Amino acid sequence: MRPQLPVIIFSSPSLIVAMLALALLALPLLSTAAVHGRRDDHSHSAANGLPSTWFHDPDHPVHELFRRTDATDGVTYPTVGSKEWVAGFPAPFPSNGIDTSNLPAAWVAALNDAVARKAIPDVGIPKLGADGNPAYPNGGDGGSPEICSGTYGCRVDGDIWDGPDGYVGISFDDGPADGTADLLSFLKTKNQRVTHFLIGSQIIYLPDLFTQMFNMGDDLAVHTWSHPYMTTQTNLQVVAELGWTMQLIQNSTGGRIPKFWRPPYGDTDKRVSAIAKEVFGLQTIVWNHDTDDWTLTETPPYTTPAKIQSDMKQWLTGSKSPGLIILEHELSKDSTAAFIAAYPLMQENNWKLVSLATLMGKNVTYQNAADNVSPVTKVNLVDAKNGTAAVAPAASAAASAKSSSASAASATAQKANSVSGAVGASSAPTSTASGTSSAVSQWTTGSTALLTAVVVLMLWK
Ligand SMILES: *[C@@H]1O[C@H](CO)[C@@H](O)[C@H](O)[C@H]1NC(C)=O
Ligand SMILES: *[C@@H]1O[C@H](CO)[C@@H](O)[C@H](O)[C@H]1NC(C)=O
Ligand SMILES: *[C@@H]1O[C@H](CO)[C@@H](O)[C@H](O)[C@H]1NC(C)=O
Repeated sequence: MRPQLPVIIFSSPSLIVAMLALALLALPLLSTAAVHGRRDDHSHSAANGLPSTWFHDPDHPVHELFRRTDATDGVTYPTVGSKEWVAGFPAPFPSNGIDTSNLPAAWVAALNDAVARKAIPDVGIPKLGADGNPAYPNGGDGGSPEICSGTYGCRVDGDIWDGPDGYVGISFDDGPADGTADLLSFLKTKNQRVTHFLIGSQIIYLPDLFTQMFNMGDDLAVHTWSHPYMTTQTNLQVVAELGWTMQLIQNSTGGRIPKFWRPPYGDTDKRVSAIAKEVFGLQTIVWNHDTDDWTLTETPPYTTPAKIQSDMKQWLTGSKSPGLIILEHELSKDSTAAFIAAYPLMQENNWKLVSLATLMGKNVTYQNAADNVSPVTKVNLVDAKNGTAAVAPAASAAASAKSSSASAASATAQKANSVSGAVGASSAPTSTASGTSSAVSQWTTGSTALLTAVVVLMLWK
């Protein structure tokens, strides 16, 4: 019925009556807005022409008129960055390795089940050797097919190292960190979405940057709680390193459960990749080119900005098969600057530049949601495994939204809602631009509702 709206109105002889009714109906809404605008309990940025914020806080009465669906799983999580939020997770960077004595019973049960199913190969647990690499018990060869350690260049079946031909899957490790703010500003100017492999401990330290990357629409993935060589960790420690980071992301994004993880130092093996997959449904992603950008702030560094630029030039002007997965970091302003310097090369050489998780997840970035604004399936972390949560890809969601104006309006409204606060009370619209676009879609939803009301009145007459 709604698609026919304009036809009904403009072919009707009572056009003027309709417009009048519309104006009358709109009046209370506009005056409410004016009253609300006078409140001075929150700051507004100065507006030229159109106001920079047209939308209302979620507790405003207007939300009763135009109810919108939350793009969350419906659970009320503590505010990101609050004391209660911090208290629910392990201490950042535990000095003696992550504690495994207080793991949720469901995680341990899922591990035990996977071990009992013989789904976790027992390849032995190495210790870091004098050369800095994990040394396997009894002289085990890390490069052998039985162990298959990434540190020794072996690729576990099912782990991702290469991108699809013609693509650069863009991602950054170790955030949120010192390079994050610069990175996000740059990405915004290019409208470029990327994946962040996040360290749980860093999220605890820098919650605002975390919230900012999520609200921007970037994809969040796991880079462990405290960045150890994962092959040196016990089964329970691997569960703790992955599980707590996933849980922190879930509880700080309206319930989204990450789908991808990257082992620090690329150090995974058959056992570790299997725990990630079998216990948590996590897909392991490594890389096929390494910038060494993380050492830019080390003494001495292993590389220089000029060396990174010439490496990048070689990779980006080279073969498009396989696609590139380049190891880059948001660890420091220097590492971020190296990416920014190489970005024009990526564009000039006609690569398709896609967030790594979006690319490898076929537009479904999380295990129970397509992205930061689409609906979230409520599901327990260990039950969320790939496929169980049955999430529609963003592309098909968008397509179905197009099929009727009603669902298109609600999809846009959902987007608006999530931009203005899905991550909790500490989050704010991250830019005037996003604030304005959410306001516009809210306005569109409101107008549609008003027009519908007018037509219903007219038909009833
Ligand atoms: C995180 O979410 C889970 C699942 O909803 C909940 O059981 C847990 O208490 C939450 N933890 C915190 C710190 O919010
Ligand atoms: C997720 O599902 C896809 C397609 O069914 C499969 O190829 C992939 O291996 C699965 N990943 C995990 C971590 O189970
Ligand atoms: C992902 O979405 C993009 C943009 O909407 C589309 O071009 C692409 O075909 C989609 N990829 C998959 C695998 O669905």
